[in-house]
Amino acid sequence: MRAYIEDIARHEGQEVTIHGWLHNRRSSGKIHFLIVRDGTGFIQAVMSKAAVGDEAFARADHLSQESSLSVTGIVRADARAKGGYEIDVARLEVHSEAHDYPITPKEHGPDYLLDRRHLWIRSERQTAILRVRHEVIDAVRDFFNSRGFILCDAPIFTPAACEGTTTLFPVPYFEDHTAFLTQSGQLYNEANAMALGKVYCFGPTFRAEKSKTRRHLTEFWMVEPEMAYADLDDVIALAEGLIASVVARVLDTRKTELEILERDASTLERITPPFPRLTYDEAAALLKEKGLPFQYGTDLGGTDETVLSEQFDKPVCITHYPASVKAFYMKPDPRQPDKALCVDVLAPEGYGEIIGGGQRLDDLDLLLQRIKEHDLPQEAFEWYLDLRRYGSVPHGGFGMGIERCVSWICKLEHVRETIPYPRMLYRLYP
Ligand code: 4AD
Ligand code: MG
Repeated sequence: MRAYIEDIARHEGQEVTIHGWLHNRRSSGKIHFLIVRDGTGFIQAVMSKAAVGDEAFARADHLSQESSLSVTGIVRADARAKGGYEIDVARLEVHSEAHDYPITPKEHGPDYLLDRRHLWIRSERQTAILRVRHEVIDAVRDFFNSRGFILCDAPIFTPAACEGTTTLFPVPYFEDHTAFLTQSGQLYNEANAMALGKVYCFGPTFRAEKSKTRRHLTEFWMVEPEMAYADLDDVIALAEGLIASVVARVLDTRKTELEILERDASTLERITPPFPRLTYDEAAALLKEKGLPFQYGTDLGGTDETVLSEQFDKPVCITHYPASVKAFYMKPDPRQPDKALCVDVLAPEGYGEIIGGGQRLDDLDLLLQRIKEHDLPQEAFEWYLDLRRYGSVPHGGFGMGIERCVSWICKLEHVRETIPYPRMLYRLYP
């Protein structure tokens, strides 16, 4: 019977066949210990000369890492075994021998591994991270679907900027036209929310970020909910609910992966709403108190975010940034018009911003003024202005970067390991 390693506990005492690859091997004279992986996990297959005969035993002695094979044998519980089970091999079938697999159990540098990302993803750590990524995405979808949000995706080719003109990727679009890869689906989401009430889009987004930091990719996945008849408090409550729900799901279903990653789960167990809130002014005061050279009135930098998010053991919501450092679509706070009704959620343990959003500017005249101030081409935004012409309502939403979220949950050094094929300033291969 075919079995997958992740289900092996259900097959104790039965004979099963595992189709996979050889991860590692050691021998002690009359026994080979084969570590087999099948994509769902790793298991030790114990092969004795007595059980398989001389010929098969000799063949296994030369098998190299990543050769594809199938092992058949009885599943046996063993408290000492990683995962709790082993297989006593009765038959071994080799499909394709791999020679000189370039990623060995020794240490390799990041560039070496990134050049071989298509193979690196087979490693135990990388499969654990990609499984957590899968779970995060699944939890995100469940969260919105179970709350009546309608998935309504935004286009990838767009005619104009959403998040500033300096990080646009232009693409030739037939004769005489230039399209830009989307930076965010938000503007379309706002139109969709006026049509459907509560919506979300979820797709790849692009930023021509020339920065080489551990938080930036040029292509990343973002989930963006948007709600009609909603204010900043509604947006913050939704963000808290989403983060708590995603973390709870990973803790519930991906314990094994967190263990492989040596991620301390207890710090994640504390992630329950409500999250602490600070205004920009309070955050600025805290940074000053900590002795940082923060200049009031500017945006928070990477180091500022790191320091702020180390002060709390839950994500922290920073609201009311100066309108001047935020995007053109932010609604000003009527009580202090130089501040925006916006929120950035910073993940704890120094991870920094994982969510950015807020309440949108719903006044036609002020929006027109902002588009001019930001030097944006009004023609490209006429459709967006229509949303303020025909039944404008208070509304808001946010975007959560999947890679930043996974990086924090897995406690990684760099976002590049959270996506199968990272795209960065100097990386377009493989
Ligand atoms: O704060 P940002 O730029 O917000 C927006 O794009 C809004 N239009 C979203 C909205 O309100 N619908 O980006 C949102 C999130 C960030 O908090 C971060 O998690 C992620 O997207 N992000 C990046 N992730 C990886 N690499 C980059 N270069 C990123 N830029 C933003
Ligand atoms: Mg932001």
